[in-house]
Amino acid sequence: MKPILFEPFRIKVVEPIRMSTQLEREQWIKEAGYNVFALKSDQVMIDLLTDSGTSAMSQEQWAAIMMGDESYAGSRSYFELESAVHDIFGHQIVIPVHQGRAGEHLVFSTLLEPHHIVPSNGHFDTTAANVMDNKATPLNLNIEESKDPFNEHPFKGNMDLEKLEEVLKTKGDHVPFVMLSITNNTCGGQPVSMENAE
Ligand SMILES: Cc1ncc(COP(=O)(O)O)c(C=O)c1O
Repeated sequence: MKPILFEPFRIKVVEPIRMSTQLEREQWIKEAGYNVFALKSDQVMIDLLTDSGTSAMSQEQWAAIMMGDESYAGSRSYFELESAVHDIFGHQIVIPVHQGRAGEHLVFSTLLEPHHIVPSNGHFDTTAANVMDNKATPLNLNIEESKDPFNEHPFKGNMDLEKLEEVLKTKGDHVPFVMLSITNNTCGGQPVSMENAE
């Protein structure tokens, strides 16, 4: 029997959600032209679209907000962030962005040209959109096992290395870089093995 995981925290804030009926939901999705992106968030009872900034924060995060420095220039919080990025990634230049999609926009508008192809283990939707916005082509090279929900492969987020090699051999001149999303969010948050990344 699998062990039951006990969540070692209490949630102190509760946000009410508007309850809706099946009839209402059917009407709303029809009005949205069956495009979930055209729904209003109040019409969605259980939102599985994003986890970005939507969940409860720890007491340490709330406390850090009070101790943070939001000065327009020379902010202490910025230098703390910069130093953490230096430590972890070793990069000299650090440009904070408010969300991932804004970072993608900066990177791709700097690095991509229209003939470029960007292979990935699975482009997140905003990632693919940002690649296309720069007239380049996003290419998804998920392993076949990732397409079968009943397959218990331990690293379903992996990139198909044979397919990648083929792309690099035949179209390598058009590939400015290869992207690996860890974990692989767009294929269900699946893990990527260190071996695959290497
Ligand atoms: C792999 C990946 N790329 C990009 C994004 C976009 O990030 P954001 O929602 O912060 O714009 C996400 C968000 O979940 C993601 O998982």
